[in-house]
Amino acid sequence: MSKTPTFADHPIAVIFSGGDAPGMNAFLRAVTRISLSRHHVPVLGVRNGYDGLVEASKMDLDLLRSQVEERVGRWGMISDGQPLVLMDQPAVSGIVGKGGTILGTARCLEFHRPEVRARVVTMLEKLGVRGLIVCGGDGSLTGADLLTKESNLRIIGVPATIDNDLEFTEMALGVDSAVNTLVWAVDCFKDTARAHRRVMILETMGRGSGELARLAAIASGAEMVVTPDAKKPMTRADMDALALSIESGMKAGRSHAIVLIAEGVKMEPEIKRNRAYVLADAFKEFFERAGGPFHDLEIRPSVLGHLQRGGHTSPQDCILAARFAEAALNEIMRPGGGNGVTALRRGRIEIVPFGAPPLEDAEARSNASMHLHESLSSWEPL
Ligand code: F6P
Repeated sequence: MSKTPTFADHPIAVIFSGGDAPGMNAFLRAVTRISLSRHHVPVLGVRNGYDGLVEASKMDLDLLRSQVEERVGRWGMISDGQPLVLMDQPAVSGIVGKGGTILGTARCLEFHRPEVRARVVTMLEKLGVRGLIVCGGDGSLTGADLLTKESNLRIIGVPATIDNDLEFTEMALGVDSAVNTLVWAVDCFKDTARAHRRVMILETMGRGSGELARLAAIASGAEMVVTPDAKKPMTRADMDALALSIESGMKAGRSHAIVLIAEGVKMEPEIKRNRAYVLADAFKEFFERAGGPFHDLEIRPSVLGHLQRGGHTSPQDCILAARFAEAALNEIMRPGGGNGVTALRRGRIEIVPFGAPPLEDAEARSNASMHLHESLSSWEPL
């Protein structure tokens, strides 16, 4: 399409919501490129998540329309107070591997109110938007699901969260990049851990899920991983058991250890402190016990935090983003197409219903990863 896009062409709106995830920019680029070149349909980028939609719904419609049609692409994205932007080719140039999202994202409390959503739906319908793509995690997809019940818009969700806690898909956008970043981080910690013969306890993100920590442990060679999947909260006795197992490894000749602990691990008693610090204190006490063989072993905790969300998007995520974009657009453009969420299942991209149950083997796959890691990190003799 060489002409300037307008609302008369019934654009597809795309929104990024919740915590950013690597792959969101690759997804925006893919949606824009595929939609323009294959379907000849313009793409309307929503800035700052659902906040952008709410803001747009408060504006005078004619003013909004003329603002958006006049300031297209990058111009629109640098214009203060412009919540919607018609995307053109240059606007998505050079962003494929960049973390974050050039459209911005947010967690929007106002969108929880039905009357606010109703105003948003009216605005989108009056603008002639033919479909809405919502890219984000659990909360964002729940918001999208509400819209499917409250409007006639065609709505497609796209899972994007480093937590990989959406169990209807094997992978969400951003997970592979975050694992790559964690492998890089663990490598850095390993250098210094080995030099000082220390135990490094690193806290990973993931909310209530242990997926990110588990995958990172397998890929990085971390000696130990603690995840929230156990049915019971972690007690002091559990922590001592972990320390004992590190001690055994050290007796067998290990010089150092990297322990990954997921932020969502429950503890008994519950302490409002980062998990890495709580575990580090327990380990210190264990190793310093009278008669312990590694009395002067040093334990150093670190909370890895938001670095896990940023940085370069991995090729795997860029490819997944393109495949999700293609499937989302196909569903919106297909005569008789419906609402749903893109999912990766056994190597194929599918559109599954909003609220689809976890994949049947989701728990078995987590257990298998845990078991695999245990074998990989074991120093059991023959
Ligand atoms: O859901 C992604 C995530 O990075 C979680 O792993 C983490 O608990 C949370 O978001 C952090 O949220 P915020 O960016 O608001 O601090």
